[in-house]
Amino acid sequence: MSVRAKIVGTGMCVPERRVTNKDLEQWMDTSDEWIQQRSGIVERRWIEPGQKPSDLAEVAARNAIEAAGLEPGDVDCIVLATLSSEAEFPGTSFFLQRRLEVDNIPCFDLRAQCSGFLYSLSVGKAFVESGQYRRVLVVGCEVHSTGIDVSTEGRDVAVLFGDGSGAVLLEANEDPEDHSGILEVQLHAEGKYAEKLWIEAPGSGFHPHRIDQELVARKAHFPVMQGKFVFKHAVTRMPEVLRTTLDAAGTKQDDVKLFLFHQANLRINEFVANALEIPADKVRNNIHRYGNCSAASIPILLDEAAREGVIERGDLVSMTGFGSGFSWASAVVRW
Ligand code: ACO
Repeated sequence: MSVRAKIVGTGMCVPERRVTNKDLEQWMDTSDEWIQQRSGIVERRWIEPGQKPSDLAEVAARNAIEAAGLEPGDVDCIVLATLSSEAEFPGTSFFLQRRLEVDNIPCFDLRAQCSGFLYSLSVGKAFVESGQYRRVLVVGCEVHSTGIDVSTEGRDVAVLFGDGSGAVLLEANEDPEDHSGILEVQLHAEGKYAEKLWIEAPGSGFHPHRIDQELVARKAHFPVMQGKFVFKHAVTRMPEVLRTTLDAAGTKQDDVKLFLFHQANLRINEFVANALEIPADKVRNNIHRYGNCSAASIPILLDEAAREGVIERGDLVSMTGFGSGFSWASAVVRW
């Protein structure tokens, strides 16, 4: 292949405010023990009043651009994955573009929930490999804390989610001596299970208004999840897509230096690692600190690993996610 899309910089940002499992007890009937046992989560970050998703995305994006030794003006396109957009339309990416002061370059939001970052990476890869754009900024950004039901009724979902953003900068790599790049991304979806994990409203199919008092009264604006059903599908689909992606890239599981799984639940990730016989020291998790940041989870993990020097140029990194839609995806990257 003549052009590869290479990750040349990573960045992340989480809000300062820590919300521990104990803190959640003031709003709902829950316990630190239940949350840790079921999910592995110890605390998560929530934004403060006045903070916006694009505050987080801007810091993550600037960090990724700076890590690449570049300026925002060097970016040719922005793809931002989110399920919690700053405004119904135009989303979040336009606010990020404005903050980066890079008028005129294209930007758009991509919605594939917890698989959103990998879907966006695939789009960025295609842009770079086709020659349409030389440098693509791929961002995952979520603010869940303002959209969850923190009463006992919503506790099964509310305890899982956190706020954060992660970003990578892709650049065209045309150097035949440099084998770094995104080798393969595989994407899947199964819309028949859309309602197993979703937020029903606001929705443009509601008449006469997308949201009204009746919808709010029945809490249709909060996420609902059939947890066990989602769990079962996640632990089936993730190993499946991880394997086929490595095969398609002509890589071997044993040669992968680091496996990054979406941070929905530590138990899911342990199950997937066991099923594939992946040694624990090759899997990185941060769900205990940040909870589930949906589209931001994988790029946050990647940034932490890159900055700590866990991955070095030439290493293989495998990334896999599953989420609402249902959607699932995997990517393998030569660092
Ligand atoms: N604190 C205390 N008790 C709770 C809480 C809580 N926060 N939440 C639920 N419970 C109670 C329930 O009411 C239930 O009580 P009951 O037995 O008296 O009825 C009991 O605990 C067990 O509840 P379950 O829902 O059966 O618990 P489960 O073992 O399934 O764990 C969990 C729930 C952690 C949500 C799990 O099902 C899961 O992780 N599912 C997958 C999540 C996921 O992968 N999401 C995808 C990504 S998210 C995205 O794409 C947006």
